[in-house]
Amino acid sequence: MKILNFGSINIDIFFRVEHIVRPGETISSESIEKRAGGKGLNQSVALAKVSDSVYHAGSIGTDGNFLIEEMENFGVDTSLLKKSDKLTGNAIIQVDDKGENSIVLYKGANFDNSESYVDEVLSHFEKDDILVLQNEINCMPYIVNKAYENGLKIVLNPSPITDEIEKIDLDKIDLLLVNETEAKALAKVSDAKKAVNYFRDNFPSLKVVETFGKNGSMYFDKDNLINQDSFKVDAVDTTGAGDTFTGYFVTYFYKGERIEKCLEVATKASALSVTKKGASISIPSHEAVLKFKG
Ligand code: RIB
Repeated sequence: MKILNFGSINIDIFFRVEHIVRPGETISSESIEKRAGGKGLNQSVALAKVSDSVYHAGSIGTDGNFLIEEMENFGVDTSLLKKSDKLTGNAIIQVDDKGENSIVLYKGANFDNSESYVDEVLSHFEKDDILVLQNEINCMPYIVNKAYENGLKIVLNPSPITDEIEKIDLDKIDLLLVNETEAKALAKVSDAKKAVNYFRDNFPSLKVVETFGKNGSMYFDKDNLINQDSFKVDAVDTTGAGDTFTGYFVTYFYKGERIEKCLEVATKASALSVTKKGASISIPSHEAVLKFKG
């Protein structure tokens, strides 16, 4: 089973601040750090901690060569990347004293994908391979339609939610990973329970994982609903915690593990990730996750 992650690649610039800057305010940062990030890159790194055949596709500028090295060091195959003459995507990230963050994205090369490039990438994959997507790149509806035609199993983490997501047919998605806000936005409801009913009623073959931060997560499909509590840790930086969860959950899920096990391992991995600074660099090893008692 090959896993293709068609996703974003960002240069993350981290600022440590006492609190997230408010409108009209100027504050100083105690530190500045440049690191590898992007929901796509982070998820590829998390996938590669537990899977053998992880390919990352997406566009990157010439200023992003260190990101390619970083992905390769973590075991991600980068041979399908597109070199763009645009600047690599950037994320300006403030992390406050509680480990919470606030992010401004510059799309850059992440929006330099073309339909012909998508076709070329997908030609390397076949029926039942896994495609993982987030929403930080262009051509999303095209990628979904083509991959579905080719019989790939599509995993969608529609983060950050934009109008573009409305153009994606969720009937073509096998597994949807959302946080509570995203679930309510997609379902156009204000109540978490109504969101569950919306997905069950309108997309009966869809499997959904919904995360609730400190309040755990749940998996549901047409017939099942399984809850998972979170693990208590001292959070230093929550950036990339959701990406870590996604990488671990997807791998365990498509290996055919029990849902309870998939949720437990993914929750442990994301709990460990928030105890370290940074996004991709904070993703724990499989060994560390298996040792973690919670
Ligand atoms: O999910 C965390 C990621 O979101 C960061 O690495 C940043 O690049 C943004 O895309």
